Amino acid sequence: MVRASILGLGSYVPDRIVTNDELRFLNEKHEVCAEQQTETNDEWIKARTGIEQRRYVPNDSGFASSDLGLFAAKNALEDAGTTAKELDCIIFATLSPDIHFPGTAVFLQSKLGIDGETGCACFDIRQQCSGFVYGLQMADAFVRTGIYKKILLVGAEVHSHSLDYTTRGRDVMVLFGDGAGAAVIGPKETDDAKEGILHTHCQADGAGAMDLHLKVFEIAKLPYVYYDANDREQNQIKYPQMNGKKVFLNAVRNMVVSVQRAMREANLTWEDIDWFVPHQANLRINEAVVQYAEIPPEKALNTIQFYGNTTAATVPLTIDHYRKAGKVKKGDRILSTVFGAGFTWGSAIFTV
Ligand code: COA
Repeated sequence: MVRASILGLGSYVPDRIVTNDELRFLNEKHEVCAEQQTETNDEWIKARTGIEQRRYVPNDSGFASSDLGLFAAKNALEDAGTTAKELDCIIFATLSPDIHFPGTAVFLQSKLGIDGETGCACFDIRQQCSGFVYGLQMADAFVRTGIYKKILLVGAEVHSHSLDYTTRGRDVMVLFGDGAGAAVIGPKETDDAKEGILHTHCQADGAGAMDLHLKVFEIAKLPYVYYDANDREQNQIKYPQMNGKKVFLNAVRNMVVSVQRAMREANLTWEDIDWFVPHQANLRINEAVVQYAEIPPEKALNTIQFYGNTTAATVPLTIDHYRKAGKVKKGDRILSTVFGAGFTWGSAIFTV
């Protein structure tokens, strides 16, 4: 039997570690100032989110999401024992695209050295924290229908450039970090009915769209950038806005139902699943999901402590983190459940 499978995984985080203690002294150029810039503290951040530190790209304007994606992609290709030349499709999930258009997948394609007249298909997807599961569903369908044979799915984010480093933006700013994760998906011959991508489902509720959003511009307006980006009275529009409590409640509720739906539709029990890898937005969200969905707590993997929320990258980054730590092993079966802006959410069950 041929199944769509994850053939290789990789991740990348920048070297710079920003602890909660350092974060409050950073200005918008990521310089550590003598005076505190944001009224926040390690105790609050740890207690409310579980985050201890996050990674930031160097503050030299040299890194875009496609650059982080490139490092993760190279690691995933090596892990899959293949090369970029073999790819016939790239799916790039990000909420921090290199520029407004074209999409970031084409920049990554060039950086991988596989652009040109015979270049592969390139998709960008916009499901924020749910990007990896949405992309996996697309990749699974493409492979199973034979449209593409070797797909690179990348989630990569440079969040640190678009956060509000003042007390005004602290509810959102403390949550996010930079990072990337990637997977190579292709057909795999197997006799094991439980190998490969076993299940995916994706959902959305547009009623929550403005509860977590980043405008930057509004195309309906003339001019469509209608504020002075350097004026603090006007420039909230260039930073993410979040109704934190509503996002929290919706995340817990929808992730619990999504976990239950995935297990039911795949006809599996927790005996069949080695690891639960939820999106990493808030440790308290994930602990609540584990409790209400009755997931064995020892099977839940979290990395938000080390990386914060890296949006579309969290799932492959977390799996890769625990592979490197020797916990996740080849062939392990994972249930991954995500929730993000939109609202969007979904689950996938797959072996790695
Ligand atoms: N440091 C210190 N204090 C902060 C703070 C920070 N970084 N951010 C907010 N506060 C303050 C608030 O201003 C508020 O003060 P007040 O009581 O004087 O008004 C107080 O802390 C409590 O804020 P509240 O918003 O009620 O906290 P919370 O327990 O809901 O936690 C979040 C806030 C953002 C951590 C939480 O709502 C959350 O995680 N939401 C989901 C976020 C998410 O998952 N986003 C990504 C989705 S994929």
